[in-house]
Amino acid sequence: MSPPFEGHSEMKLRRCTTVMFEPREEVSLGLEAILAGRADVTTQTTWLALAAHLDQSVPVSPAQRELLGSLSSRQWTESSDVAGARADWEALLEAGLLISDGDEHARHRQRDEGMRDGHWWPLAALVHRHARWSGVNSAAQMRDSAMVTAKDLRRQLGAPPPTVQAHPGTYQPLPAVGATAYDQLLERRTTCRNFDATRPVDLEQLAQLLQRTVKAQAVVEMDADTAFLKKNVPSGGGLHPTETYLLVQRVEGLEPGLYHYHPVQHALLALPRHCERPLRDVAEAMLSGQDWFADAAAHLVLVPRFARTNWKYRNHAKAYRALLLDVGHISQAVYMAATEAGLAAFVTAAINEVDTEAVFALDGVTQSPVAIMGVGWRSATLDTAEFDPNKVVWP
Ligand SMILES: Cc1cc2nc3c(=O)[nH]c(=O)nc-3n(C[C@H](O)[C@H](O)[C@H](O)COP(=O)(O)O)c2cc1C
Repeated sequence: MSPPFEGHSEMKLRRCTTVMFEPREEVSLGLEAILAGRADVTTQTTWLALAAHLDQSVPVSPAQRELLGSLSSRQWTESSDVAGARADWEALLEAGLLISDGDEHARHRQRDEGMRDGHWWPLAALVHRHARWSGVNSAAQMRDSAMVTAKDLRRQLGAPPPTVQAHPGTYQPLPAVGATAYDQLLERRTTCRNFDATRPVDLEQLAQLLQRTVKAQAVVEMDADTAFLKKNVPSGGGLHPTETYLLVQRVEGLEPGLYHYHPVQHALLALPRHCERPLRDVAEAMLSGQDWFADAAAHLVLVPRFARTNWKYRNHAKAYRALLLDVGHISQAVYMAATEAGLAAFVTAAINEVDTEAVFALDGVTQSPVAIMGVGWRSATLDTAEFDPNKVVWP
C-alpha cells in the first residue's frame, strides 16, 4: 500500500482520457568508437507518452507505462490501492498523465475533462495537440537551412514526384470553354506576400469580405436550444464550427486591435489585449516569423470549436478531417472575395497555435486556431516571390 501523497490525505486517481505510447529510437555514435575511428552506432529507445491534454510528450519507464495501463480513465482508484511504486505514480501525477481529484491538480484535470467532454476521436485529438507550435520561427528555419526557393528545394531534396500522375492509355480531350468574368477573377487570385504597409482598407471592404464568406445568411432554429446556420461556404454536418477572430492593423473606421466576428449579428466585438507589443509583432509571431504576411491590413484567425462538430460526430474518425476541410473552404472563399474587391489575400497553416491562443485568450482545448489569413492592398513592389507565372498580378 502506498502512503498518501505527501502533505495531503488520501486522494483518488485515474488515468487521463487519451494517452498513447511511442517507442522513440535515438541513434548516437559512442565517443569511444569515434576516438577509435569506428562507426559503432548505439540505439536507445525511450517510451514516450502522448496525451491529448498535454502539449509535450512525457518520457515514461516501463513500470510507469504498466501502471498507467492498470488504472481506469473513467473510474477513480484510491491512491492507497494503486499497484506500483509511489514515486512512479507521483511522477505521473505531476506530469498530468494521472489525474487526481485534488485541488492542486485541478489544471490538468480541467484540461483532461475538456478533452473528454469534447468527444474527440483519440488519434485526431493527439494529432491536433502535438502539431501545435509555440515560438517557432519557420521563416528563420527556412533561411538557415537554405530551403527558401524552389531551386533550393530541388538541390536539397532531389526531384519531387511528378506534377501529374498520368495513367497509361489515351485521354479524351475536353472542350476548352470560353472564359467569362469568373475565369478572369479566378486568374487574379494569387497568394500575396507583398502587402502595402501604409494603405488602409475601408470598413465597408472588410465588412463585405466577412459578409460574403463567414456571415450567416440564415439561422434555422430546430428547437429553442438548437440552431443551424446557412453560410456561403459549405461545412461538414452543416455545423459551421469555425469562429473568425481578427487582428486589425489598418482598417479605416476601426480601431487597430483584436476582435471577434459575430456571424449572425454581422458585428465585431473588440477584445482585450493581454500584451503591449505592437500589433505587427504580434501578427508576425502568430505567423511563425513569416514577415512577408505581417503587413496585411487585417488578419483573420480561423478557430474551430471542436465540440460543435464532435457533438454530432462523436468519437468519429472523420470529424477532424471535415473540420480542416471547412477551414480550407473558408480560405478559398476569402481569397475570391478579396480578389473580386481588388484586395490581396493569403492563407497559412504555418502558425504558432499556442501563441495565437494566448493572444485571443483561447483555451487550446475546446478551441484552437487552424489557419491564419490576411487581406489588404498589394504593395507596388515585389520584394518576396509570388507565384504568378501568367503575369496576371505582376505584368
Ligand atoms: C493550406 C495552405 C497553407 C499555406 N501556407 C503557406 C505558408 O506557410 N507560407 C506561404 O508563404 N504560403 C503559404 N500558402 C500559400 C501557398 O504557398 C500558395 O497557395 C502556393 O504557392 C500557390 O500559389 P497561389 O496561391 O498564388 O496560386 C499556403 C496555402 C495553403 C492552401
